[in-house]
Amino acid sequence: MSSTEIDRGNWGSKLGFILAAAGSAIGLGNIWRFPYVAGQNGGAIFVLIYVIFVVMIGLPVMISELSIGRRTQKNPVGAFKVLFPKSFWKYVGGLGVITGIGILSFYAVIAGYTVGYFIKIILGDFNHVLTGDQSAAIFTSFTANPYVSISLLFLFVLLTVMVVMGGVSAGIERWSKILMPILFVLLILLAIRSVTLKGAGAGLSFYLKPDFSKLSLTTFARALGQALFSLSLGMGTMITYGSYISKKDNLVTSAAYVAFFDTLIAILSGLVMFPALFAMGLDPAGGAGLVFVVLPSIFAKMPGGMIFGAGIFLLLAVAALTSTISLLEVPVAYFVDEHKWTRKKAVIWMGVITFIIGIPSALSLGANSVLSTIIRKDFGFLDMMNAVFGNYSLSIGAFFISIFAGYKWGVHAVAKEIEQEGSIFYYKKLWMFIIRFICPIAIFFILSYIAWTGNYF
Ligand code: TRP
Repeated sequence: MSSTEIDRGNWGSKLGFILAAAGSAIGLGNIWRFPYVAGQNGGAIFVLIYVIFVVMIGLPVMISELSIGRRTQKNPVGAFKVLFPKSFWKYVGGLGVITGIGILSFYAVIAGYTVGYFIKIILGDFNHVLTGDQSAAIFTSFTANPYVSISLLFLFVLLTVMVVMGGVSAGIERWSKILMPILFVLLILLAIRSVTLKGAGAGLSFYLKPDFSKLSLTTFARALGQALFSLSLGMGTMITYGSYISKKDNLVTSAAYVAFFDTLIAILSGLVMFPALFAMGLDPAGGAGLVFVVLPSIFAKMPGGMIFGAGIFLLLAVAALTSTISLLEVPVAYFVDEHKWTRKKAVIWMGVITFIIGIPSALSLGANSVLSTIIRKDFGFLDMMNAVFGNYSLSIGAFFISIFAGYKWGVHAVAKEIEQEGSIFYYKKLWMFIIRFICPIAIFFILSYIAWTGNYF
């Protein structure tokens, strides 16, 4: 073991890595973002394309990122520099560092709202909520308060900073292990309640019966962004995480586990959201407030619903925290490795910058009228950040990573890294074909279409 390996820490075990990587992947992307993006893009048809993209683009790119990270033991910028010094590739890593801050800035706003909802439920604010409209009114007035939104943003950035300051395995692993399984069980119980509500059938068919007439190329663009976002790909999170996996572990099976659990949770949360949404007569294309509106109206119809509700929002906040940790870890690892900052300095500075950039997002769900409608009536600053960093920046990153793995560093170099210590590279030939010919071409085509039509948001 080299000295850098000792300094940077290592995952305790293969399971530890899978849980932590799943902790990064599973978060608001699955439970907040997936249902509302699916709702805006035609429901089942979106879900179908999403799943295809997870397998055809997400998994191959994840394998690439993990192997780059394990080989180089570095942050994204350092990783490209080690493999090809003095080439332009380090800028791909640089884009990832910026994207990490960009995503974190709005992600922490929504994560803050989950904490806020936990507190509101405890305070009994939802005890008389029965209809979807009542629930929607509560969300609207909650996010219209600038002090609440900014304080919750601050709180969540602070929490993330505190955990990341503690270092890798100690901080992250401990959280993911215990709490993700509980979240899973609660979601199953909620899904059962949701599908048995009166009027749930329409929601189930919206979610599960594809309507091909709703298919457009824009759907592909949104599904690609969502797949990359949900799997934490395209900005080097998995490069950074890969740098902490042991050479003994099989990267391919690890990646497959992570992708499987992540997709399972997303699908499950759609199963919670859509039946209830239709039963309450709400609009599936309602946007970023969807989860916050739908969940409380389900709790109202469950015995002990408010205890349940408090539990789910608390766990959602924890799931968000294991993701924000991974987002902050990328810029932090960059400044520690490349600029020799102390971990403490890097974490504090990145935290301050994230908080400042997050403020306009925090004010854009009603608190400030200009920020709330910056792109159009129902599309504010947070939505814009979400599209720019959460869709396009990740798609561009994933494009370059697939070119890098497929052509520059090359498929044989990746294979060699994966086949360390006798590990088997399952579906090697298939992966080689996909990473060279499917991923870059599909992503290029989708991005060109969006640029061509100007249909960015
Ligand atoms: N995947 C996480 C979620 O679904 C969010 C996240 C964490 C992320 N790290 C990332 C998204 C890196 C994109 C890139 O909530």
